[in-house]
Amino acid sequence: MKIKAAVLWERRTPLRVEDVDIADPAPGEARVKILASGVCHSDLHHIRRETAFVPPLVLGHEGAGVVESVGEGVTRVRPGDRVIIAFGQKCGECYFCLRGQHHLCAAPGPSTVRLRHGDQALTPLLAVGSFAEYANIDARNLVPIPDEMPLDRAALIACGVTTGLGAVIKTARVEPGASVAVIGIGGVGLNVVQGAALAGAARIIAVDLVDRKLELARAFGATHTVNAGREDPVAAVQRLTGGWGADYAFEVIGHPATIRQAYDMVRKGGTAVVVGLADVADEVAIPAADLMRSGKTLVGCFYGSVSPYVDIPRYVDLYLNQRIKLDELISRRFALDEINEAFRAMDAGEVARGVVVFE
Ligand code: APR
Ligand code: ZN
Ligand code: ZN
Repeated sequence: MKIKAAVLWERRTPLRVEDVDIADPAPGEARVKILASGVCHSDLHHIRRETAFVPPLVLGHEGAGVVESVGEGVTRVRPGDRVIIAFGQKCGECYFCLRGQHHLCAAPGPSTVRLRHGDQALTPLLAVGSFAEYANIDARNLVPIPDEMPLDRAALIACGVTTGLGAVIKTARVEPGASVAVIGIGGVGLNVVQGAALAGAARIIAVDLVDRKLELARAFGATHTVNAGREDPVAAVQRLTGGWGADYAFEVIGHPATIRQAYDMVRKGGTAVVVGLADVADEVAIPAADLMRSGKTLVGCFYGSVSPYVDIPRYVDLYLNQRIKLDELISRRFALDEINEAFRAMDAGEVARGVVVFE
């Protein structure tokens, strides 16, 4: 079948919307008509940086849509089902999946070619590739959602919401009354802020360079804000926590310097959580004696430690019962052929989240 897809032919060049061929779904796969796909900073990361995903690529990993057809042996979803697409592999059988750590699944990526442009195979990012009208997806990654869940807001749950809420609830397990600092108030960081509010954190300190982001953070539950361009964020967080430092700090950007800030701004015995995706070659220096004496925890958080079939329906339910905000996260909607503008707007800090919508 011929479909339109935004292709990254070469890093650091604009995406091009092309007519590409999508295969029939292989055994175990379903073909999903994509209706919405959020634009996440890690898509931009694959445009700009050298990563394991080598162009030509179809980016997009924050998608939702409707199942159009299924391959052999698929029982989990049926045509017509509305679904959120979990990215990466989720085999259900490996060492990690058996322990409920589906975000760490060790299964290899898809073995079939799903997308072609002429003779050229195109790789879908994170086994999704949702900047396209259709995507073939391993059915084990598809989470059905109820009819009343709007698909543009559902798409956000595929990455940003699940990553942000999960970092607080699943990875760090923030407890009521805690003090929390969040560095980087983008589409993901806003979800860390609202996750902290949901967990009952008493003090939520948002740190960013852009005042507009800090205002948004307040609307999502931040009690204090710090503009790191005007004030040293470590000193500010210490000042706002009685001199001790925060119980938890979340780095939601992906820079060694801000990871170090997160480590420095937690109190003794506190926990710093790395949510942002840094370059593969980046390293972070941590003072070794301080790590030992302070009893701090430095922990990584991939994909909000998600177990998709347990957590994604919960996050949908939280939205449907007005316990989390998703409407306010979507600042702009874009057509597929406006994809480069969507990346520009995100990079310029103009949006909380931009979403590509189809039809
Ligand atoms: N200090 C404070 N804030 C900063 C700094 C800094 N030094 N540098 C950038 N920021 C802010 C930006 O102003 C922006 O508000 O970080 C935010 C990043 O937001 P987005 O571009 O919307 O990125 P997002 O999609 O939220 O992803 C952030 O989380 O899961 C990861 O892969 C994702 O690495 C990415 C990170
Ligand atoms: Zn993402
Ligand atoms: Zn697995």
